[in-house]
Amino acid sequence: MIKMNDITRDGNPVLRKRAEKLSFPLDAKYIKVANEMMEYLKNSQDPKIAEKYHLRAGVGLAAPQIGLSIQMASVLVPGPENEIVFEETLVNPVIISQSVQVAALEEGEGCLSVDKDVPGYVPRHDRITIRYQTLDGEEKTIKLRDYPAIVCQHEIDHLKGTLFYDHINKKDPLDIEEGAILIG
Ligand code: NI
Repeated sequence: MIKMNDITRDGNPVLRKRAEKLSFPLDAKYIKVANEMMEYLKNSQDPKIAEKYHLRAGVGLAAPQIGLSIQMASVLVPGPENEIVFEETLVNPVIISQSVQVAALEEGEGCLSVDKDVPGYVPRHDRITIRYQTLDGEEKTIKLRDYPAIVCQHEIDHLKGTLFYDHINKKDPLDIEEGAILIG
């Protein structure tokens, strides 16, 4: 199972590389990796398991974060009642359209690869349409909004070598355009 020691941290060049596109059928080793990434997210959101293995809770994990420069990211977004709102491993994901409407998490963002807290608003698109492939190669196009859309933008950024704090206004971290939606 993936533990915190397996997660690459900021400063590791793999986090700044553009990840390689995957071709299908996926190599069995990548399917195994995808399952392990999703298992990490599930474990990290289970208070007992997370405590036992000292896992930081996460809603998304991209392959470069475990040292693999490939275009694959797992997302597991819980809702207010802990129900699953979005669960998917995205392969070769691309944002094909995006709203002009900006949104940001009220509390800022965090990342399993960034140990320190970096306060500030991370401006994102409130709504996105993404196209990706599933692990068995099925092509999907879906629309997301608000929190799940932000999580996917954070993960897709990882596949381009971008970290969340790159988007924070350095001079004024709480600067955000008028009309932006703040998601609590
Ligand atoms: Ni991250």
